[in-house]
Amino acid sequence: MSEGSKNKVKVQNPPVTDPRPPTPGWPGIIEAYRAFLPVTDATPVITLREGNTPLIPAPALGRRVGRGAQVYLKYEGLNPTGSFKDRGMTMAISKAAETGAQAVICASTGNTSASAAAYAARAGMKCVVLLEQSAGAIALGKLSQALIHGATVLAVEGNFDQALHLVRKISADYPIALVNSLNPYRIQGQKSGAFEVCDSLGRAPDYHCIPVGNAGNITAYWMGYKEYHGCGRIASLPRMIGFQAEGAAPIVRGAPVPEPKTLATAIKIGNPASWKGAEAARDESGGEIGTVTDEEILEAYRILAQEEGVFCEPASAASVAGLLKKAAAGGFTDDALIVCVLTGHGLKDPDRALAVVEKPTSIPATEEAVVKAIGFS
Ligand code: F0G
Repeated sequence: MSEGSKNKVKVQNPPVTDPRPPTPGWPGIIEAYRAFLPVTDATPVITLREGNTPLIPAPALGRRVGRGAQVYLKYEGLNPTGSFKDRGMTMAISKAAETGAQAVICASTGNTSASAAAYAARAGMKCVVLLEQSAGAIALGKLSQALIHGATVLAVEGNFDQALHLVRKISADYPIALVNSLNPYRIQGQKSGAFEVCDSLGRAPDYHCIPVGNAGNITAYWMGYKEYHGCGRIASLPRMIGFQAEGAAPIVRGAPVPEPKTLATAIKIGNPASWKGAEAARDESGGEIGTVTDEEILEAYRILAQEEGVFCEPASAASVAGLLKKAAAGGFTDDALIVCVLTGHGLKDPDRALAVVEKPTSIPATEEAVVKAIGFS
């Protein structure tokens, strides 16, 4: 075995744990919400200072929704690896480190693998990720993240659901920790998104719109809202409004979808792991889970970028596509306070952005040509 390939499987670095506060700035979600999380003094905190993402007012969307609605965007693309997954991953990797785990594994549509690879690198752990092999299944930004953080990336001849089945089995049979959202610490960490929304607004929203893929995030947000309600930090609970892509909508259809299809690759999932959690969130909150078409997703993606100045990935735009669809059907009460989660950054999937815009115009390097091209002459 060459030196290089030996290094590939060796755990090289000791974990980089953060000192306990006081430290400058936002400490990450574990320290910020320690009282709400299953951590102890024995838990090494592996953090990239995730969380504390902005809740951005969206006045153009508010006008489109009408009836006095106030719309906010929880912009999770500003987490360290560019998606909400970091909230759960700081917990999953810290707890794995606490038990002495040396390796973690996940199946992913891209973002989980990017996050797992980054946090595992920081913890000095080996990371294995299983991705769908077919062309275009994983957005380029996400794949590059998993690779640059040193994960072992395996392209499976099958879809996400098959990859998830494999990692469940392998983590049960071998000493490697599962960091998909079946890992309960992932959901625990992700519930911090709901805490932040309430901390920012000083109350819970009336409606919480969210894309649904493997269904961990809707489950986690609902858990977070219920916990804040239970300890009196908020007086009311939101209705949880989830959206699946029309070609990948097992929860809406009430049956697994063997070959899910959507250009929103992050939520191209036919048999969600947290199916029951999503149904509970929907039913307990008096909410709903609906579908949006790929065309509706792309329209919301464009509106967000061009009217609000916020660039998210297509799957994230599913929450806003659903918002607009529900608004058009008169589905919101007057003066509703609505939060839409934008789960991942637009730069994750630059190919999609380039596919839906006009290409740059080529011009000669002259003032005359510029002036003409921008319509000043
Ligand atoms: N939005 C983005 C950008 C995602 O990456 C995901 C899930 C979701 C929404 C759906 O969240 O699964 O909790 O319902 N991505 C997973 C992954 C499946 O592997 O990165 P969910």
